[in-house]
Amino acid sequence: MCGIVGYVGHRQALEVVLAGLHRLEYRGYDSAGVAVLDGPGGLAVERKAGRLANLETRLDEVGRDRLAGTAGMGHTRWATHGPPVDRNAHPHRDAVGGLAVVHNGIIENFARLRAELEADGVEMASDTDTETVAHLTARAYQEGETAGDLPACVRAVCRRLEGAFTLVFCHADEPDQVVAARRSSPLVVGVGDGETFLASDVAAFIEHTRDAVELGQDQVVVITREGYQVTDFHGQPVETAPFRVNWDLSAAEKGGHDYFMLKEIQEQPAAVESTLRGHFAGGRIVLDEQRLADQDLRDVDKVFVVACGTAYHSGLVAKYAIEHWTRLPVECELASEFRYRDPVLDRDTLVVAISQSGETADTLEAVRHAREQKARVLAICNTNGAQIPRESDAVLYTHAGPEIGVAATKTFLAQIVANYLVGLALAQARGTKYPDEVAREFHELEAMPAAVQHTLGTVPQVRALGRELADSKAVLFLGRHVGFPVALEGALKLKELAYMHAEGFAAGELKHGPIALIEDGLPVVIVMPSPKGRAVLHSKLLSNINEIQARGARTIVIAEEGDGTVKPFADHLIEVPAVPTLMQPLVSSVPLQVLAAEIARCRGYDVDKPRNLAKSVTVE
Ligand code: G6P
Repeated sequence: MCGIVGYVGHRQALEVVLAGLHRLEYRGYDSAGVAVLDGPGGLAVERKAGRLANLETRLDEVGRDRLAGTAGMGHTRWATHGPPVDRNAHPHRDAVGGLAVVHNGIIENFARLRAELEADGVEMASDTDTETVAHLTARAYQEGETAGDLPACVRAVCRRLEGAFTLVFCHADEPDQVVAARRSSPLVVGVGDGETFLASDVAAFIEHTRDAVELGQDQVVVITREGYQVTDFHGQPVETAPFRVNWDLSAAEKGGHDYFMLKEIQEQPAAVESTLRGHFAGGRIVLDEQRLADQDLRDVDKVFVVACGTAYHSGLVAKYAIEHWTRLPVECELASEFRYRDPVLDRDTLVVAISQSGETADTLEAVRHAREQKARVLAICNTNGAQIPRESDAVLYTHAGPEIGVAATKTFLAQIVANYLVGLALAQARGTKYPDEVAREFHELEAMPAAVQHTLGTVPQVRALGRELADSKAVLFLGRHVGFPVALEGALKLKELAYMHAEGFAAGELKHGPIALIEDGLPVVIVMPSPKGRAVLHSKLLSNINEIQARGARTIVIAEEGDGTVKPFADHLIEVPAVPTLMQPLVSSVPLQVLAAEIARCRGYDVDKPRNLAKSVTVE
């Protein structure tokens, strides 16, 4: 949610910043803006509502040489305070235009700060919370003990701010430095040769350097050509944790695909494989980054899974496996609901917080609440060093690589796999599965990259089906057991991407209400279980298909290869490889992702950047 880039170096800052913003546009695309410092007194700002392309057109109109200079910053916005119009686009400036600031997050006490400024006669030019920070910092620069010291001004202002924020500042009188502050929202420094970068995500500077530094909570960083200095909000120098990014530019590019999502769908076998790698050694599940001892896992008497969106669906899948393997009760809860309903938590509760980005505010707050209640928190995350793993007791990283498409695909499969590793580690520590049973489950997981690869063979068929369904008004998705969360995820993908009314239901629940929705020609996607694994579920679902077909629905059935019994009921059959029941979501989700992407493409929508969405949502 909101992408930020900062640069000081030897190149034209405008081009570095724009290239970085392109890679961060997945974080928000309601507006874009840049500020470039050009020698003493020179601070040029351009901003434009809408996608980055609008800003680039504007820059071409005004002439890019108006923004010459080797230090600057940029922003791509997901609107919170005020509509997505030019005046609310970042950077925001103080009254005389000497200082510019960009912001990701929310300043919760902004109304009070704004009132204070207005009472002093400051006229606000936007509806944003960010603009208050511009005025406060500019004042601190003009007068008082912080006068003329930009980092000191930033620290002083940050001490007054409540909420979550990453802020980046440029001042016309400080042409060789860019200053940034971080609380709860992400910010990474990129260290190059004679140049230094700042960004919400390493993808913004990966083409220039893979040497990065993660900033901690409540820290201020000053970047210059020579490097960076980090302090806390009181000016005390702090230790930083440099790291090397283990992927390169090609991972953040489309690589010949029409859109990132299609590339990421294709990368799913590798995502599953990498997430499993190194987690089974000496006949045991090994969760190397977990800081929970076996005894801690033995003490667990209840598991909560908290997450949002697609990550939540991966948790719903995990509930079936973890309960089955460990005999522990598992509650799966939307993170946004979790802490407001006083869940029963204590030190023997394990809370598994799943988040691709590791920065989703709802999930982060759920983690904080769980820890306050003394529960142990294990994060499952795809982003190294993100806030959620930082605040958790333990972390298990999914190694899906960067996911740029806003709608999650490969990280969903990787999350399911990681959740299963947690389930197996619990079963192993608690002795609810014999070592050979744990090993067998792990080896079944190891067979999944090949099964997912095989499933990708359905892509052309599913794309053709997508073209046929592109004019539908609504689509229903049905499943039972682990097929139920798959149905929910299939519906979510279609809503997100194709802006189509889509609902997922437990197939058994159909007769209790949703069957009233069935009308002639309505496409209904049914996720079939294996006829061999859970025969009883299979036959029940066959009856459910019968019921809807009799009422005129057009049935699209995802079934195991060779499942002859289902053929008469399928107007359209998509066959996926035979895998054990608990592994089925890893194959049956794939056609649903492709279907949503293709319908969206046919309807003329941007598959990678669906309207109103952002990939990480750092507000509650
Ligand atoms: C946003 C995204 C969803 C995502 C959810 C959770 O709403 O649009 O696609 O599933 O956040 O994101 P996380 O990073 O916590 O997995």
